[in-house]
Amino acid sequence: MTTVSAPPSTVPNAPGGLPLLGHIPNMAQDPLTFFRGLQQIGPVVRIRFANQPAYVVTSPELVRRLHTTEQDLFDKGGPLFDRVRPYVGNGLASCPAHDHARQRPAMQPAFQRSRIERYAEVMTDSADEVTGSWRPGQVLDLYKEMHRLTTLVIGRTLISADQADPAARHIAQAVPDIMRGVYWRMIVPGRFFAALPIPVNRRYEEVTAHTRKVVDKVVDHYRADGTDHGDLMSMVVAACEQEPDPHAAVYDQVVTFLTAGLESVASSLTHTVRLLHRHPQILARLRAELQEALGGGPDGEPRLPGYGDLPKLRFTQHVITEGLRMYPPAWLVSRVTTEDVPWDEGHIPADAGVFFSPYALHRDPSVFSDPDTFDPDRWSPDRVTNVQRQGYFSLGAGRRKCIGDVFGTVEATIALATLLSRWRLFHPPGSADARPTVTALLLPPRTLVRVERNR
Ligand code: HEM
Repeated sequence: MTTVSAPPSTVPNAPGGLPLLGHIPNMAQDPLTFFRGLQQIGPVVRIRFANQPAYVVTSPELVRRLHTTEQDLFDKGGPLFDRVRPYVGNGLASCPAHDHARQRPAMQPAFQRSRIERYAEVMTDSADEVTGSWRPGQVLDLYKEMHRLTTLVIGRTLISADQADPAARHIAQAVPDIMRGVYWRMIVPGRFFAALPIPVNRRYEEVTAHTRKVVDKVVDHYRADGTDHGDLMSMVVAACEQEPDPHAAVYDQVVTFLTAGLESVASSLTHTVRLLHRHPQILARLRAELQEALGGGPDGEPRLPGYGDLPKLRFTQHVITEGLRMYPPAWLVSRVTTEDVPWDEGHIPADAGVFFSPYALHRDPSVFSDPDTFDPDRWSPDRVTNVQRQGYFSLGAGRRKCIGDVFGTVEATIALATLLSRWRLFHPPGSADARPTVTALLLPPRTLVRVERNR
């Protein structure tokens, strides 16, 4: 008996592909607009990097299924992760599912709620140290200051060896160059591009080589020391001793956590401060919440915020969530299909590179009304909808959801509350319109601010 199966549903091609280059020029010139525009073409769209096809999932519902009910069909890998692999190796964020099943449980205890409460004290001290070092009238590069803060926090919580601090400082400085190199390697397939002696490649080679040296020192220290520092890395070192190459295994996790843990929070804080500058009424409401919760203003210095203050800082948290919606640091995420994906909305073959863009998905008006408007109240309990919650991908979802989600949002809340309860920031005229820098991460533009006491 012959069975008749339905023909695989066809996937439309993205417009604008050039004969030899495919969509490389679109990804190089204005990738945010390009990805946003694909939703009009279909729920699944085919793009090309030169002659290499890849699939973009633009439907929020399919992206949710890809993370949950159908996550076995999508593994880490594909164009983005394969190019990142020489840098992050097989760390938690990039390893395939069979390694992930072993790695994640080994690290999860470092992110339990009881631990986060302890880390929150370090976050408060670090926010105090950084914002307490500023002087009235000083002009600061905000992004660098936020990096200084996240570097202190990671170096005092997850990776606490003395050597971690210089390594974290190096990575904080190197991330934009590394992520630019990673992005170009992703959009231009093959070895040819990586071999070109152009500035983006030279810088990438230099900073990754130096990163290797500074991180190697941290790994050597942890492995030789043998003491349990009670931090994430001590757990990692113990777990990695069973791996065929323990040094490489520990190295991959140090680079992963230093990169993921420093950059995302520093960049989301800077984006959020920029949004607040463009929305003075929202900033005024935020300041009112901070004054109510922490005191200060004409009566004196505000109290420092801590973990116990979080229930009183609801609006602050909505501001951070909304900032992450509009400018998700992981603006583009990739997977590889483990087998044929027979979706009615578009058939994706096995072993294909698949992308989705949280930035584009978060600008879908059927999920977020008026999506280009910064509206923190859309997250208030009386307005937030299930569709919105399900359509929010800034921290990922499913079994690959960000392991540092609570860590990162608590850190950002404490940092923003400390900063704005103490200081007023003045931005130079015209600076509000600068566009974000698109690399493998969505980085804020240079943000110079003059700081004055908040009295
Ligand atoms: C607000 C800040 C943060 C944002 C926006 C963010 C975003 C994300 C996203 C979107 C993913 C999933 C990527 C995917 O599906 O391929 C992810 C995974 C990950 N994040 Fe975060 N992250 C943040 C903070 C942190 C922090 C503070 C740490 C470490 C302390 C961290 C470590 C990781 C790791 C290790 C993974 C891989 C998890 C796994 O595959 O099991 N992140 N993050």
